[in-house]
Amino acid sequence: MEISFELNGEPVTVTVEPYMSLVDMLRAEMDVKSVKKGCEQGECGACTLLIDGAPVTSCLVLAPQVEGRHVTTIEGLEKNSLMIDLREAFIENGAVQCGFCTPGMLLSAYALLRDNPHPSMEEVKMGIEGNICRCTGFTKIIEAILDAVERIAPE
Ligand code: FES
Ligand code: FES
Repeated sequence: MEISFELNGEPVTVTVEPYMSLVDMLRAEMDVKSVKKGCEQGECGACTLLIDGAPVTSCLVLAPQVEGRHVTTIEGLEKNSLMIDLREAFIENGAVQCGFCTPGMLLSAYALLRDNPHPSMEEVKMGIEGNICRCTGFTKIIEAILDAVERIAPE
């Protein structure tokens, strides 16, 4: 079947099998490799992206479900100032090791800070609770997100 949606601000149309997951469609049909496949059960957050601005695990979404919707991956926020602050904070705080969790983690952190620019540490932990990192022990990631809060330029 053919579906049309917006990917990172661009209208796209793609032919997919009705049962194909969104993560599989993006990786196999659209060459979007930043969206990772981990557990494929909604448990690890590696496949996190934004649908209409909300973080979603794309392994649990069927591709046809994004018909007419706005899908954002990390590529779509390359020039976004909040994402730039987050990326720099992650790098400078040692929050990126193997990098497998990083795109999903950054998108969850982005959605958190977009909606709550001054979160408490507990709110940061809750904001990334669906994203598993096997490398950092989470401390550096939490520190990086709190560091990004300091970097956000006043409106
Ligand atoms: S691959 Fe989707 S949550 Fe793990
Ligand atoms: S940096 Fe390796 S899983 Fe998070």
